[in-house]
Amino acid sequence: MQQREVSVFWTFFVLLALQFLFGGAHAILRIPAPLPDLYEASITELQDGLNQGHFTSVDLVKAYFSRIEEVNLQGPTLRAVIELNPSALKQAAELDIERQTLGPRGPLHGIPILLKDNIATHVSDGMNTTAGSFALLGSVPPRDATVVAKLRAAGAISLGKANLCEWAHSRGNLPSGFSGRGGQSTSPYFPLADPLGSSSGSGIASAIGLATATLGTETDGSIILPSSRQNLVGIKPTVGLTSRAGVIPISENQDTVGPMTRSVADAAIILTIIAGRDPLDNHTLASPARVPDFTKALKKDALKGVRLGVPRRFLSGDPNIDKAFDASLVTLKELGAIIVDPAEFPDADELLASRNETVVLKADLKFDVQKYIAGLLEVPTGVKTLTDLIAFNIAHASEELVPPYWTSQSQFIAAENSTRDAAYFAALAADHDLGRARGIDATLAIFNLDAIILPADGFTSTPAAIAGYPIITVPLGFQPDNVKATSPRPTISNAPGLPFGLSFLGTAFSEFKLVGYAFAYEQATHTRLKRSAFPAAIPKTQLTDVMKEVRFVGPHSEGLLVLPMA
Ligand SMILES: *[C@@H]1O[C@H](CO)[C@@H](O)[C@H](O)[C@H]1NC(C)=O
Ligand SMILES: *[C@@H]1O[C@H](CO)[C@@H](O)[C@H](O)[C@H]1NC(C)=O
Ligand SMILES: *[C@@H]1O[C@H](CO)[C@@H](O)[C@H](O)[C@H]1NC(C)=O
Ligand SMILES: *[C@@H]1O[C@H](CO)[C@@H](O)[C@H](O)[C@H]1NC(C)=O
Repeated sequence: MQQREVSVFWTFFVLLALQFLFGGAHAILRIPAPLPDLYEASITELQDGLNQGHFTSVDLVKAYFSRIEEVNLQGPTLRAVIELNPSALKQAAELDIERQTLGPRGPLHGIPILLKDNIATHVSDGMNTTAGSFALLGSVPPRDATVVAKLRAAGAISLGKANLCEWAHSRGNLPSGFSGRGGQSTSPYFPLADPLGSSSGSGIASAIGLATATLGTETDGSIILPSSRQNLVGIKPTVGLTSRAGVIPISENQDTVGPMTRSVADAAIILTIIAGRDPLDNHTLASPARVPDFTKALKKDALKGVRLGVPRRFLSGDPNIDKAFDASLVTLKELGAIIVDPAEFPDADELLASRNETVVLKADLKFDVQKYIAGLLEVPTGVKTLTDLIAFNIAHASEELVPPYWTSQSQFIAAENSTRDAAYFAALAADHDLGRARGIDATLAIFNLDAIILPADGFTSTPAAIAGYPIITVPLGFQPDNVKATSPRPTISNAPGLPFGLSFLGTAFSEFKLVGYAFAYEQATHTRLKRSAFPAAIPKTQLTDVMKEVRFVGPHSEGLLVLPMA
């Protein structure tokens, strides 16, 4: 046992004895405090409740497990979650004892977080890390992904693994939200609606409170789009702000890990903890030596005097989304922002025509996936390369290449023989030039902007993707009730009530500013609260349902020790 664990152990028993000796006679029945509704509960609200002894992390894990059970494979069968962490309850119990004895480690102590299934967890947890593919089932990563190690050190509990577009949408031309292991996930905002992707399960789970928060990953749109579709806040950090070590990759040049949450404040708390330099991912060496405390950016007046540019050519093309976006400009002005409209990218034509990203991602996928697999301690299926994965999928077609919708592995096939040749390096240089110098940075400079704003569903993710620059998305609106639901193929692409988001884009490592702008807008609008998931997709289990014992606390130990009445 570690030093801290030993002392936690003994302190707990001493306190327990004291409680029985002196506490019993004075035990008072607490008037039950109203417990947070897990559909919406924030990290801070849950942390307060945990600290005051109103409920425990064990209660939280039990409640989330039960909520997942209600909607994942039963009822609306949203298929948001692939695996539960078999160690979560044990970890929660240990963290509860530690809280009672030594106090909380910080804002994430005992808070359950769900991880996209391409983010590795140490084998001792008992979970798989597979990017949704049977090809990596039973594979053993050498360690936690760095972001998971940071969450663990902060006292967070990995609740399980979220479904995703298999291989983060790099296998083929597949409906969003499908993986061989997880099946076809769907949005909780309309039956059978496309959840968008690739962090589909993370989006669904966060939206309806299957966990306090989730992590997603983005290469081009994979955090921002499912956050937009699921009425969430999503942060796609600058490449290098959060480590990708232990994350099943598409591209070391574009991949990034970020939070998907119900509020900007929750996203800021998580980003502060998962960000930072990591010797295992040398792209992080470009990030600032000290990670800012992003919660310090949460100021309601953060938009005062801020110049925001509107690159109209990149709007979504969906009339309802673009109309809501135009209406948001009025709100932003009321909040003190100066709107520069239009503020077109000087290289918009080239950006829209460029296929450089495809050239880069093809080669990166081949080499980076191979490198990830080579770093695993065990791979029971024996796959090593994209060529092996293609053969594996053919050999396991009934699980992986499922007709009628899910048979494609065209991207694997297209990437199988790619090389990092001169054309690749030219495409990578062109991407940086198009996305950074002549793209986002030029637009910011020409119009003297602090940030760029767009609907999340426009051409929004691509300039930031090829630049490796940040985006934050907040809820903007919902498809109106008179929209006609499209027919399922296999998911519905548009329907009444489907949410969409507003994105703020900036230069490298400008997350602190962007978090502030997003917070100011969120606090003025609270769009998320204006519409809920469809009734069957709202889990019913709440903390009270899993807290069987009535809790009593001694008058002198309030907040320190909470005992079930014998
Ligand atoms: C992980 O995969 C192994 C098979 O390799 C399986 O036995 C185990 O149950 C899986 N874990 C979970 C939680 O599904
Ligand atoms: C990153 O690390 C690799 C080896 O792990 C090394 O070959 C490469 O030069 C490093 N790149 C940078 C930019 O430091
Ligand atoms: C890459 O971008 C450059 C600059 O716009 C362009 O000239 C070139 O045609 C692009 N290449 C591809 C493959 O799209
Ligand atoms: C890749 O190369 C292998 C070996 O030369 C070949 O069998 C395969 O058909 C090639 N794949 C594609 C998509 O061209």
